[in-house]
Amino acid sequence: MHIKLSILISIIICLIYIVSDVVAMPIGAPDLSKCQPSLAANCCLINSRSIVDFKLPSTGALRVRPAAHLVTKEYILKYANATRLMRSLPLNHPWNFMQQANVHCAYCEGIYNLSNFPNMTLEVHSSWLFIPFHRMYLYFHEKILGKLIGDESFALPFWNWDSPEGMGIPTMYTDPNSSLFDNTRAQNHQPPNILNYGSTNEGNNNISSQIEANLEVMYRQMVSSAKTAELLLGGPYRAGGDEPWSPGTVEMAPHPYVHMWTGIDMSSFVTAGWDPIFYSHHSNVDRMWEVWKTLLGNNSTGVNYINDTDWLDSSFLFWDENLQLVRIKIRDVLDTTKLGYVYQQVPIPWSNKTAAKLRDGEEMSSLRLVELPVVLDSAVKINVELPKMKMKMNMEEVLVVDGIEFDARMHVGFDVFVGGLRTSKIGFAGRFEHLAVKKWRKDVAMGGLLMKKRLVLGLKDLVKELKLERGELLVVTLMPSHGTGMLIKVGSVRVDLSS
Ligand code: C2O
Repeated sequence: MHIKLSILISIIICLIYIVSDVVAMPIGAPDLSKCQPSLAANCCLINSRSIVDFKLPSTGALRVRPAAHLVTKEYILKYANATRLMRSLPLNHPWNFMQQANVHCAYCEGIYNLSNFPNMTLEVHSSWLFIPFHRMYLYFHEKILGKLIGDESFALPFWNWDSPEGMGIPTMYTDPNSSLFDNTRAQNHQPPNILNYGSTNEGNNNISSQIEANLEVMYRQMVSSAKTAELLLGGPYRAGGDEPWSPGTVEMAPHPYVHMWTGIDMSSFVTAGWDPIFYSHHSNVDRMWEVWKTLLGNNSTGVNYINDTDWLDSSFLFWDENLQLVRIKIRDVLDTTKLGYVYQQVPIPWSNKTAAKLRDGEEMSSLRLVELPVVLDSAVKINVELPKMKMKMNMEEVLVVDGIEFDARMHVGFDVFVGGLRTSKIGFAGRFEHLAVKKWRKDVAMGGLLMKKRLVLGLKDLVKELKLERGELLVVTLMPSHGTGMLIKVGSVRVDLSS
């Protein structure tokens, strides 16, 4: 009886899997005829009678995207001129600067529903769509800028915020008379001020400790917590799928923090594209994927991209440099050299372990130990068991912080630290951060908007560094990163094994 019942249950589970697989599919390009404008901006995309499929450009010389703080005066003039030309086009021209900026808004505030799954809204943040979508967006923007100045070799700069020399706002953006200026930038964050996105470094204004803390965040987010493409890029978002939003480590830090720090326009996805610095911020985010694949050696391990057709075939629409509306798929943008560009090689000061030190856990030892779920109104500790057995050699421990719930209109975030019962040391494991959705669609904003996300961080290196053993109890500290009193709830924390 028992055996029969368990066979029956297995069959049912199999069927559920098969059915859900049939339903879930790649994200379909938006149906541009059905736009629901945001409260903040009318950012509907310009429609066209014909849509063509994207073709890779014929290979010529590669465009080299330079570090923004290293460019020449001539380059700045050229870039500013291209942006100025973009700003002076008629407002309803697809290349007009505001039309370009609106593309970002159109893909992120529930402006469109999926063409192949009308019950779901299209959102390109908080999942595996994040990196490839922004790569496409920048690709077309760059090609159009080049077209406007008749220079096919034109390449966008990248804001090298992962390097000490690049951690401030690049000077090309600070001239109030330039087309690259935005007057909503934070006054107190102008050069020579630099970013301070390091965890537990808040209120510390010593430049060298700021840099050190920043590099530690870079190392954890890009190296030790991101050993697989899915950890780096984020979890699935499929048409008809029901997986929770699960942003990757490259999206979580310092990406949202840089948005917030820069200024008002940059702080909201609706308006971020209005500030020209957005494109060099995202050029560096894009570069992170490239650095991860090549310089950090994730190319040879077979985990350099996600081998899932729902990801590879997800498609998006953009106006291109030939004034055509183009449908492009994620599989088209896996290789930057096929798209015709590379990044200037600059030092990567955070690529090895010396960038991240374990710290003394003493100061956190008095925090309250809680059971989950918990409202994260102050820092808390949770005990979590490290799995006893590894099924396969190459499996690695991943920390899953699940059921993170908050009002999407709030800016919320927390840092995760890991320690053990037998060690007084703790290590920074990664960060969760959500940029406030400022002006959501009317129908959604009325009732508030409860958002639920999941954070997944690779733990393999930290387990080794802390000399933790299988079956041992971990002490996981969750520390709100923007003061207390945030309405953010954490449902559960566990360690999984995954390959
Ligand atoms: Cu689409 Cu950095 O945002």
